[in-house]
Amino acid sequence: MTAPREVSFTVNGEAHTVRVEPRKTLADTIREDCGLTGTHLGCEHGVCGACTILLDGAPVRSCLMFAGQAEGAEIRTVEGLADGDKLHPLQRAFIDRHALQCGFCTPGFLMLALGVLEREPDIDEAGLREALASNLCRCTGYLNILDAVKDARAAMKAGGG
Ligand code: FES
Ligand code: FES
Repeated sequence: MTAPREVSFTVNGEAHTVRVEPRKTLADTIREDCGLTGTHLGCEHGVCGACTILLDGAPVRSCLMFAGQAEGAEIRTVEGLADGDKLHPLQRAFIDRHALQCGFCTPGFLMLALGVLEREPDIDEAGLREALASNLCRCTGYLNILDAVKDARAAMKAGGG
């Protein structure tokens, strides 16, 4: 067994230093060591996207990274989306458009969409479809998810998030 090592990063603006085995994934570390269980685990091998977080602004699959690879990174998870009681436009739109059914995939879709819309606020529908196709929703509510992200795109451009 390899000795645990310290890793430091921020999650939703808060500094964390964790002591983890080198083989521990970032997803498990966020859930178990940072106590933030909003990031879900589905396939645990990079296929479903349920574990998507933002790492220095880019959507990544946290089950495919070791915690040690996040040294010094700025991480954002679904818990950081709302501002107190005020939902982020993406969360509001997912509710209004019934874009979640069981909800298991939802944190991953929210963080994927956030990364895409922040990087490319004017992304067109084809681009959104392609981006969202990388995550899996086993309840198959893709059209409502697409509609919600389109609403959020408009709201974010209007300064709502
Ligand atoms: S749990 Fe990470 S991609 Fe499925
Ligand atoms: S809402 Fe159930 S997996 Fe997407």
